[in-house]
Parts: sequence; structure tokens; C-alpha cells
Amino acid sequence: MRPLQSKSQRRGMDIAWSGPFTPAERRLLASITDGIDRPRLGAIVRRHGETGFGRRKRKYLELVNHIGRAFRDVVRLDLHATARWRVLDIGTGPGAFAHVLEHLGHEVVATERAEDESIMWSTWCPEDALDGFDGPSSGDEEVLGAEASLYADLADFLGVERVIWTVEAAKPAPDLGDRFDLICARNLYFDHPRGNQPVWGLDAWRFFLSDVEARLLAPEGRLFMSLPAGASEREDLLTALKEAGAQVSSRRVLLDRNACCRFIG
Ligand SMILES: C[S@@+](CC[C@H](N)C(=O)[O-])C[C@H]1O[C@@H](n2cnc3c(N)ncnc32)[C@H](O)[C@@H]1O
Repeated sequence: MRPLQSKSQRRGMDIAWSGPFTPAERRLLASITDGIDRPRLGAIVRRHGETGFGRRKRKYLELVNHIGRAFRDVVRLDLHATARWRVLDIGTGPGAFAHVLEHLGHEVVATERAEDESIMWSTWCPEDALDGFDGPSSGDEEVLGAEASLYADLADFLGVERVIWTVEAAKPAPDLGDRFDLICARNLYFDHPRGNQPVWGLDAWRFFLSDVEARLLAPEGRLFMSLPAGASEREDLLTALKEAGAQVSSRRVLLDRNACCRFIG
């Protein structure tokens, strides 16, 4: 699929954008969702829908909605109108964002934490479109294991290969090959309290971003992150990122290398 090329259809990167899609964008999204093998997806959804997790968290199962939300971020970042980029999708989950990008011709490395880590973490998908979504209870091992297994099946269904990398405070990233034009962590939860570890402080964030800047980011590269809703405990992070020159809109953050370096200090 060729990206939209016409200048009139381009908005440029605008992480604050949340308006309606243009007709051309709607057609592009439809060309992605129309390709879904519904009977095969239906079998996966039925299987996971029968678990306690699936019955309680039906929105996790709605892959087409995951794709719609991923496409909205693609449009915010102008990735539907950008020449082929090398993109890193950290914590890819169901792989919807990586799938959309691959469909558009971008080169994507999608990472996900180790599955046995999932029982130690609370994760939830609070993107705007997930109204009424409350997420699994922290510490509910069955729920979190089931979430990881669903994500693995959905990413596999979408043909998204995942590199296993559990992001941890003060631990460098693995070698992921060439540097990236764009590094994304959408609805990220890797800075969440884990075991008896508190939510990441600014020092943990500085370590993470300095490692990313030094080893993963291309010279003109950028980093896009969206924090979960209700991330009030990250107010200090958002303020520090803004002061460093990052664009911050609601829970979304876009950093270039300069802002990254200023944040690291
Ligand atoms: C809320 S989901 C978002 C998934 C996807 N990025 C999206 O927006 O649809 C959070 C994802 O981050 C992953 N994750 C959580 N902690 C992580 C960590 N420490 N390292 C890597 N991935 C992690 C979860 O397994 C899950 O797939």
C-alpha cells in the first residue's frame, strides 16, 4: 500500500490532533481492516473470550478497535504520509501499531516483555476509545497471564514478530540492529510499580532515555510515548519533559534528540 502522498492530505506531526479522519484516511484504514481474516480471528476471540479474563475484559479482544486506535496515532505522527522509516514499537501488545506500519511500508521492530514477567505487572489499555475500560486488578496472576497469552496470539495473527525485551529500570536495551527514525512506546506501562519497586522516578527515566538516545535513536530520530490515563503520579515526568523542550499533549509526548539530551542533563 502506497502512503498518502498529496500535500493537501498531510498535516505534519501533530500529537494533539484528535479530529475526524479524512475520506482518504478512512479508505486507508479500511484497506487494512478489510484484509483481516475474520473467521480465523473469530476462533481466537472465542477461545480467549471463554476464559475468566476474556469474559471480564472483552475490549481487549476487539482487534479492529486496537487497529483503529493505532491508526489514529499513525495519523498524529504523519506516518501514513512519510517515506519508509525504521520504527521501534516498545511493548507492542496485540501488535496493531506495528501491523499498520508494516502495511504502510515501514520497517518495524516490535518488542514485548517476557511472558513470565506478565504475572508481576499490572497493565491496562486506557486509550481514549476504550471507554469504560478498567483494566485487570494488580496482582491478579490469572488475568495478567491471560492478557499476555491473548496479545501473543493477536500479534501472531497479524504476522507481527516480537523481540522479547522486558524494559527494566537501570538496565540497558538489547542490541536491536540499526538505529531508529522513530521509537514508540504507546500506552506504556513499563515504569509501573513492580513487586516492591515504586513507579519510576526521574533518575530511572534519565537512564532509559540516555540509553535510548545513545544506542537506539537515529541522529534525526524522535521518540513518541503515550502514558496511561490516570497517570497523575507522572506529572513530574511530564513537567520535566516539557521543560526539556518535548511536545506534550495530554498524555502524549514527542521528543527529538535535543529535547532528549536536555532532559538527560
Ligand atoms: C497497555 S498495553 C499497550 C499495548 C500497545 N502498545 C498498544 O498501545 O496497543 C502495555 C504493553 O506494554 C507491555 N509491557 C508492560 N511492561 C513492559 C516492560 N517492562 N517491558 C516491555 N513491555 C512491557 C505489556 O505487556 C503490554 O503489551
